[in-house]
Amino acid sequence: MAQRIDVKDLNIYYGDFLAVQDVSMTVEPKSVTAFIGPSGCGKSTFLRTLNRMHEVIPGARVEGKVELEGVDLYGADVDPVAVRRTVGMVFQRPNPFPTMSIRDNVLAGVKLNNRRISKADAEDLVESSLRGANLWNEVKDRLEKPGSGLSGGQQQRLCIARAIAVKPQVLLMDEPCSALDPISTIAIEDLIGDLKQEYTIVIVTHNMQQAARVSDRTAFFNIAGTGKPGKLIEMDDTATIFSSPAEKSTEDYVSGRFG
Ligand SMILES: Nc1ncnc2c1ncn2[C@@H]1O[C@H](COP(=O)(O)OP(=O)(O)OP(=O)(O)O)[C@@H](O)[C@H]1O
Ligand SMILES: [Mg+2]
Repeated sequence: MAQRIDVKDLNIYYGDFLAVQDVSMTVEPKSVTAFIGPSGCGKSTFLRTLNRMHEVIPGARVEGKVELEGVDLYGADVDPVAVRRTVGMVFQRPNPFPTMSIRDNVLAGVKLNNRRISKADAEDLVESSLRGANLWNEVKDRLEKPGSGLSGGQQQRLCIARAIAVKPQVLLMDEPCSALDPISTIAIEDLIGDLKQEYTIVIVTHNMQQAARVSDRTAFFNIAGTGKPGKLIEMDDTATIFSSPAEKSTEDYVSGRFG
């Protein structure tokens, strides 16, 4: 349940604007890869190309390849909806469906995908997904209550449960802790550590300590100036990026000298 991503010579556009230029990288399965870099360098844009969410914006497109286990996600016969099922996403702000019950929130992705499932299987899936997201014990007695009644950190774990309920191979997370308090943040970080046993995980974060704590590999993106495209500067083992990166700009960034 974890697949490898190979990105080859990817250029990412919004209309005529080249937002991210010439990225090539490999994301290893069963590991956590962190994307770091200053605001506007294209981390979210690049992340969204990994599950074909980028192209839902009018005029947005890519050149190059994104391969999942050797299959080009942008191939002519590939269904973008199937891609988004295989490569799940968790957003910056927890976004459960507010009026939907906790149970139905977990099942929402499965139902959207028109998968018919028996009541007993649905119950099992709700429990296993909530356990997977480390939320089961906190909500098992109130599965019928609305998702909006949970704390921010619980809502984010509910969104993670919803994402893993469709049994993805890859989980993309765009600053999943930026709206959370330190305790909830640690809970999500612990969860990411558990989930990497089964999934390929990519996390965008502005928090250097978080990148250092949770990730195995780190990719540093940078931008030369406004209107210029973002670029991947270097990618290496997280320990190397934080102790002895190859590029001076990486060192300046991780040591807090800019950005
Ligand atoms: N929907 C859009 N239409 C046009 N340009 C966009 C769109 N979304 C992002 N951009 C532009 O693409 C570039 C990269 O933005 P992106 O949001 O990917 O950066 P980021 O690294 O995620 O920044 P942050 O750290 O602030 O989240 C920016 O110049 C941004 O203005
Ligand atoms: Mg972003």
